[in-house]
Amino acid sequence: MKIKKASQSRLNTIDFSTLPFGTVFSDHMLICNYKDGKWGNVEILPYGPIEMNPGTQVLHYGQSVFEGMKAFKNTKNEMLIFRKYENFKRLNKSAVRLSIPEIPEDIFIKGLDELLALDSDWCKFEDGYSLYIRPFIFASAECVKASSSAEYKFIIITCPTKKYYGDSIDIVIEESFTRAAKGGVGFAKAAGNYAASFYPTKQANANGFHQVIWTDSIEHKYIEEAGTMNIWFRIGDKLITPELNDSILEGITRDSIIRLAEDSGINVEQRRVSVSEILNAYQSGELKEVFGTGTAVTVIPISSVTYRKDKMTIEALEDSLSIQLKQKLQAIQKGEVKDIYGWTHKAASTASII
Ligand code: COI
Repeated sequence: MKIKKASQSRLNTIDFSTLPFGTVFSDHMLICNYKDGKWGNVEILPYGPIEMNPGTQVLHYGQSVFEGMKAFKNTKNEMLIFRKYENFKRLNKSAVRLSIPEIPEDIFIKGLDELLALDSDWCKFEDGYSLYIRPFIFASAECVKASSSAEYKFIIITCPTKKYYGDSIDIVIEESFTRAAKGGVGFAKAAGNYAASFYPTKQANANGFHQVIWTDSIEHKYIEEAGTMNIWFRIGDKLITPELNDSILEGITRDSIIRLAEDSGINVEQRRVSVSEILNAYQSGELKEVFGTGTAVTVIPISSVTYRKDKMTIEALEDSLSIQLKQKLQAIQKGEVKDIYGWTHKAASTASII
């Protein structure tokens, strides 16, 4: 691995008290190119522009996949990366669907460790801080033929972050637009899934909502996701989240919350959830909590769900399961409790710097 260090860190120019999500980038980035049928050498370079010609394939056909993952500092100032093998596997699952060559494990895992060890100071220990990690792969050949590219770039960049949203969000059930369809790419973290969500989300924002709840593409009867997150409902004392299918992203936070909830004795159901079930549960007083899970947000309470003209307001509870589960997850992420699941890994440097 070739590492070229930034001549001067930008760290002391950053105001960590105001960190709009995803706009401040750490000193270094990792780049690896795919050409002639194989992935080449990994380089870590100072964060900066990459050269692209207007004919670069990703700009025309959107052949691109990404991941979102996080690292945290423990009390010993060590960087703990959360579930990196899961993100690695999911990136390759997305890559296969988008006809992108898979990244070898040692490039992803060793490269990530090295990059994070180098930019470790960008991750703060204080409450609420983490380092958001964005690995992505895109079609980089200069060619406008509508086919998979012959060349790709795998890049990892990182951003110091605080909160993605405030304390809770308001959402509206979307019945016209669709995020993903059966047989499509909804399960993959494909860049185009996000691009297609922006127009409906902008309309929801204009009507005072933070996000939309995506429903199934055929009948708009079944709930799939909330914005860029997986969605959860507490009905009575049960937690219910839509079961995975090819239009739902297999959230790693979703999976972690399922494990933590079940191990806390909470009954979790992964199954189809209809809009009418939620309306009925609200009317009977059994809908106690609604929340979203995702890497960027971790766990976020949803304070209202609007369906057509009706707003269902969900009061914050003293004994909120979502807050309890969030605290359990964060304690593991920050190394405050023993990680019995093997989810956290210290970022360790092995390479030599040139
Ligand atoms: C994540 O939670 O990592 C996401 O994918 C959300 C992102 C689009 C900011």
